[in-house]
Amino acid sequence: MRILISDKLADEGINILKAVKNFEVDCSFGLPPEELKSIIKDYHALIIRSGTKVTADILDAADQLKVIGRAGVGLDNVDLKAAAKKGIVTINTPSGNTTSTAEHTMSMILALSRNIPQACASLKTGKWDRLKFRGVELHEKTLGVIGFGRIGSTVAKFAKAFGMDVLAYDPLLSIEAVGLRDVTMTGLKELLTQSDYITIHAPKSEETKNLISDEEFSLMKKTARVINCARGGIINERALTKALEEGKIAGCALDVFEQEPLSKDSPLLKHDNCIVTPHLGAATSEAKVSVAIEIAENVRNALLGRG
Ligand code: MLT
Repeated sequence: MRILISDKLADEGINILKAVKNFEVDCSFGLPPEELKSIIKDYHALIIRSGTKVTADILDAADQLKVIGRAGVGLDNVDLKAAAKKGIVTINTPSGNTTSTAEHTMSMILALSRNIPQACASLKTGKWDRLKFRGVELHEKTLGVIGFGRIGSTVAKFAKAFGMDVLAYDPLLSIEAVGLRDVTMTGLKELLTQSDYITIHAPKSEETKNLISDEEFSLMKKTARVINCARGGIINERALTKALEEGKIAGCALDVFEQEPLSKDSPLLKHDNCIVTPHLGAATSEAKVSVAIEIAENVRNALLGRG
């Protein structure tokens, strides 16, 4: 069985696959799509992170492919319909990134509330401005969590430790399924009007694309702060820029964007109350190893027909 790893994966994962007698593992990171298309026919499994786009065109040439392993949560870089049509199984690592992404979300909420990136940049230019960077507390504020899966519910737990009230919106979950005490499930409109912080933890899909746009911003408090560490495009960036320009919200913290890498010309970057990181949610030493091990074990088991 031949396995191609086309995005950087931690050695702990690669070694699990190399340890299997009949497996041949090739690592070719950052292949251009045409090159991937020309070699994919020789492989039984493909392991990717977010860099490789597995399009219908590439899958068309994947004559022997049985498994696509995505080291991470989001499957928006795989054409799932085309894969299913060819009988190719797609596997992700639903839990490996949870803690890192939830911790990054809390970092963004705190950094936004206390103006940390702006204050740091200002102090480095020699200024000592204590008034300009006065912040706000999280204590007794309301956090609205949109999407209450593993990451959303972990963020809720962390927020509770800061004394926040938590509202959650997830059309796919019932109150019983949530099972977290002191979290109130609400409708989206109620969450948008009542929350001081609104954080997105939903997958990108046709249903969630532009979920937060002009109408949704118009429902928010002027003091609301919006955080997205899930996927770009769930918040409409044109509408967000307008909301910042018109003072409809107090600020935003974004780790993900409609187009990545984010262009330095993005109008969002003109706003001091918009803080940004380059898709770092899962970028920790621990998460990299944990998703590598999880995906290697899952792909190995799938190829060997183990349940
Ligand atoms: C994920 O989907 O797991 C994260 O966004 C990180 C990544 O893209 O690998």
